[in-house]
Amino acid sequence: MSEVSARPVPLHVAIIMDGNGRWATTRGLPRVAGHREGAKAVRRTVEAAIAQGVRYLTLFAFSSENWRRPPSEVADLTFLLKHYLRSELNEMHAQGVCLKIIGERERFGPNLTAELTAAEARTANNSKLTLVMALSYGGRADVVAAARKAIASGMAPEALTEENFAALLDTKGIPDPDLLIRTSGEVRISNFLLWQTAYSELLFTNVLWPDFGAAAFAAALDEYATRERRFGARPA
Ligand code: IPE
Ligand code: IPE
Ligand code: MG
Repeated sequence: MSEVSARPVPLHVAIIMDGNGRWATTRGLPRVAGHREGAKAVRRTVEAAIAQGVRYLTLFAFSSENWRRPPSEVADLTFLLKHYLRSELNEMHAQGVCLKIIGERERFGPNLTAELTAAEARTANNSKLTLVMALSYGGRADVVAAARKAIASGMAPEALTEENFAALLDTKGIPDPDLLIRTSGEVRISNFLLWQTAYSELLFTNVLWPDFGAAAFAAALDEYATRERRFGARPA
């Protein structure tokens, strides 16, 4: 945690951005309209995170299970991702954002994979905010991939520790989320950061993702500031 004024500010906020479809259908719009509005909420949230002094922001944009959606919706989401990257990268770079991708980016095809990797390289030296985009990400897949790496390294079983296992995950080098937010009223993890959220504070809000922005982000940080984190120890 870092301190900005008197209240504790989470170092790392992770968000399950949910509710785009419902935002659209309640307005009689196609689901893609909700995803488009959701992209605008991403921009607002990145700005809010920087303004609030949060150093890591992880956004769940596409789960490994979202490939089960109809091909037309997957195509819409892939198109919007590409478009977002192209239209926002210069601005993010100027704002000091370091972009990191977790998940199986290769599943989006060689062109988008190359663009994502180039965007990471271009912003690698920025340090204002690390924006982690979870794309084709699944918490179980992350843990299994790490286990495979451990086995393939030939390390002795007793040499495996929580610390060196964490360094084999996609989130290597990124501190665990202090605060996990899920929008849209759903109360589940949906295979997001299973290992990394062991001691995250959980916050579920009914706000639909396209309505999320500076006010909702600030409200979440206010709620976080009231939480007492004990990590299993006795309260002071
Ligand atoms: C979140 O909105 C975006 C992704 C999961 C990619 P949804 O598309 O899940 O919206 P709802 O849950 O159907 O409202
Ligand atoms: C979780 O939302 C994944 C993302 C926000 C990217 P979903 O809408 O896919 O989750 P479920 O299916 O309701 O659990
Ligand atoms: Mg959903």
